[in-house]
Amino acid sequence: MKIRLGFELNGNPVSLEVPAMRRVIDLLREDLKLTGSKEGCGTGECGACSILVDGEVQLACLLLAGQLAGRRVTSIEGLGATQAGASLQQAFVQSGAVQCGYCIPGMEMAALALLTRQPHPSREEIRVALSGNLCRCTGYVKIVDAVAQAAAALPATAAEERVKASP
Ligand code: FES
Repeated sequence: MKIRLGFELNGNPVSLEVPAMRRVIDLLREDLKLTGSKEGCGTGECGACSILVDGEVQLACLLLAGQLAGRRVTSIEGLGATQAGASLQQAFVQSGAVQCGYCIPGMEMAALALLTRQPHPSREEIRVALSGNLCRCTGYVKIVDAVAQAAAALPATAAEERVKASP
């Protein structure tokens, strides 16, 4: 059974007809050709498919298309639209936090959710926020470094902007 689905994706309205049981990871990657979100395990264990729905981290491999109706969705393709997201992208590169890169979209989405609700996280808070995301290259130290660097690089005024932008 197909449904008519409308939601906001990276700031733009989306309207399309999809099977009600279509997984969101397939909707993004195959129907909308947004291939930044990765599928690792497909069972909610690795975090590679992380997206934000109304600002909260969700796993696109576990969500069904109908669950996005009327919601505000941010995928990795929309990350750079906020100052915090742009800062994360820069910090991940500068910190050498990207190895194979497969986990990075999910890591950055989880980090964006963290910086939006907590502009000045401790290293422990960063670790907890990223704890649902697995890095098979085991580059966790550099990834935590990158998130800390991104937070430190943001000017004081950016904290307000991050809250207002609410990805
Ligand atoms: Fe969704 Fe692993 S692919 S959690």
